[in-house]
Amino acid sequence: MRGKFITVEGIDGAGKSTHMDWLAQRISAAGHVVRVTREPGGTPLGEKLRSLLLSEPMHAETEALLMFAARREHLAQVIAPALAGGTWIVCDRFTDASYAYQGGGRGLAASRLAQLESWVQGDLQPDLTLLFDLVPEEAKRRLAHARALDKFEQEQGLFFERVRAAYLERARQFPQRIHVIDASRSVESIRETLAGLLDDL
Ligand code: TMP
Repeated sequence: MRGKFITVEGIDGAGKSTHMDWLAQRISAAGHVVRVTREPGGTPLGEKLRSLLLSEPMHAETEALLMFAARREHLAQVIAPALAGGTWIVCDRFTDASYAYQGGGRGLAASRLAQLESWVQGDLQPDLTLLFDLVPEEAKRRLAHARALDKFEQEQGLFFERVRAAYLERARQFPQRIHVIDASRSVESIRETLAGLLDDL
């Protein structure tokens, strides 16, 4: 049987990382083989592109193209073979992040991104997307305790307002797939919600 493809999204500082390992453990405890991966990244080439994307200033379209180039490699080398072999994938960000950051944040037209999406992934979509939603001021406070900030994390509040709005718009467009999680809740309460969503898959 084909594995399930789960993606985890949210603005920087929304707290998704706290739940990645827990999600994998829960899926594994239910008897599935699971692989945790991330975007941009997930392959040796993708990780090289990631370090460029997170540090080098570049044109917004270059940024989008490199995100999708890394994604193409990730799909070919990791995601598609794993799903075909029955392995479940938990991916820290995927194409919704391109619509949110390059679309909402940088202002690229969604129609442009849709062309790249269709080229790179055909009909493949996640089975479940967990969108951690938090007001940017609180996300920024959480990030202040983290390591040195990368290129995206250094963006100003208005950028994250636009990213958040684009994510929420995606959730409105794809309500069956994208579940908005109120990330201001306690870790325990969030995990209860996540457990329910996994059980329903
Ligand atoms: P991370 O810090 O959650 O690992 O993500 C790295 C950054 O890359 C994050 O700030 C969001 C950004 N990003 C995009 O701008 N577009 C994308 O398509 C992806 C996957 C990530």
